[in-house]
Amino acid sequence: MTSLSLTVNGAAVVADVDDRMTLADFLRDKLDLTGTHLGCEHGVCGACTVLVDEEPVRACIMLATAVAGRSVRSIEGFADDPAMKVIRECFSEAHGLQCGFCTPGMVITVRDIVARGACENPQQIRTELAGNLCRCTGYAGIVKATELSRDRLKAPKQ
Ligand code: FES
Ligand code: FES
Repeated sequence: MTSLSLTVNGAAVVADVDDRMTLADFLRDKLDLTGTHLGCEHGVCGACTVLVDEEPVRACIMLATAVAGRSVRSIEGFADDPAMKVIRECFSEAHGLQCGFCTPGMVITVRDIVARGACENPQQIRTELAGNLCRCTGYAGIVKATELSRDRLKAPKQ
């Protein structure tokens, strides 16, 4: 057991964790942040994507103890994020989701690739999203939603 101190979605958190507990299980089971979904639990599907110090990581293959002293942002931490508001609207408009299981990890990744400008064309978007698997949509709506997000987020504010 380790006493863990970190920041989660802007709030200080202190908790005792089993040394082998993953970050995903910590978020879901200790903090009730169940928007972080678990699909493969092997680092393949991207459903568990969260930000650690603003970098996307797979929470299913990172130990909770590895984020001691760091800042974690799960999907619940984007409620008031202006870029995520645009991305949510674009996913809705372009039919970028069906069951929604992949969506928390997907939109966190899309926010990251739009911020990095790594979304110039559909091929690049598909390459950047290769680590986020969706079993429902066939990806066309997700790619369209990403293009819409890119265009709206880089448009000058009115
Ligand atoms: S659940 Fe973490 S990558 Fe699939
Ligand atoms: S919307 Fe169902 S897995 Fe992507």
